Amino acid sequence: MKMIIDTDPGVDDALAILYAAAHPEIELAGLTSVFGNVTIEQATRNALYLVERARLDIPVAQGAGRPLSLPPFPASHGVHGPEGFGDLPAVRPQGAAISETAAEFLVRMAREQRGELIICPIGPITNIAQAIELDPAFAGNIRGIVFMGGALDVSGNITPAAEANTYHDPHALDIVLKSGAPTLMIGLDVTMQVLLTVEDFETLARIDRAHGPFLQEMSHFYLEFYRSKGLHGCGLHDPLAVMACIMPEILKIEAVPMEVVLDGDTIGKTQRSREGRTTQVAIDCDPEQVKAQFFQAFTDSAAP
Ligand code: BDR
Ligand code: CA
Repeated sequence: MKMIIDTDPGVDDALAILYAAAHPEIELAGLTSVFGNVTIEQATRNALYLVERARLDIPVAQGAGRPLSLPPFPASHGVHGPEGFGDLPAVRPQGAAISETAAEFLVRMAREQRGELIICPIGPITNIAQAIELDPAFAGNIRGIVFMGGALDVSGNITPAAEANTYHDPHALDIVLKSGAPTLMIGLDVTMQVLLTVEDFETLARIDRAHGPFLQEMSHFYLEFYRSKGLHGCGLHDPLAVMACIMPEILKIEAVPMEVVLDGDTIGKTQRSREGRTTQVAIDCDPEQVKAQFFQAFTDSAAP
């Protein structure tokens, strides 16, 4: 499956990208960066580093540094660390981003790979909205959008109402939901059911000697954030969106007419609506099955 991941790396973004790189059925065609967990410059740098670390020969295109309509947000350094990978120091990639913007790259790739490309946004969805605005044919050229964001029947994680990615650019999500592109939402309804614990990161470090120890190291800071919220593990947010692209059957999915709140106290909330377009929404899963599948890709890729 041909896929572009749109990302703000980010600890769970790193998990998602290295999972995608490890999975034999995923053909990554590029990464696009976006503000969110870190600044846009840090997001691009971290994305480039992950591409090189995974020995992927694919482009990285830099995207939006702020939301479409809202004022800029400070980066979420308290959750993902000062450089994005927990308390690891800044990483240093060799390469640089391509000259096209993320939106330009997305539009071109969708035209060239018409009907084949899955877009997997795991940060604020700004770049995808910009691609839709740049090319009226974009939504029809892609195979679908599987995004991490939103919370339908559960509370938010950045405000009581909103999940962080949708809160950081609700206007962009509104454009995406109304674009006519097939959309699948992987929100907190499922991602918070699958908590990766200290022991899970030990397992990862053991089964994947190439990347597991690196992921385990960056997890300490992230797990500490979750511990401060009374949780014994971190949500499998971004990896679950990538997994849903290739194995949607591990999730219970419903078609829901859905909208995003664009102002007021509940801005960024994703909710059922009377008139909204129908979005596929993951509403339930079996956490043990998801975890087993997650580890499987790392196990297989590490096999001699
Ligand atoms: C989402 O917000 C970010 O902190 C994570 O990387 C994930 O994409 C979870 O709400
Ligand atoms: Ca993310």
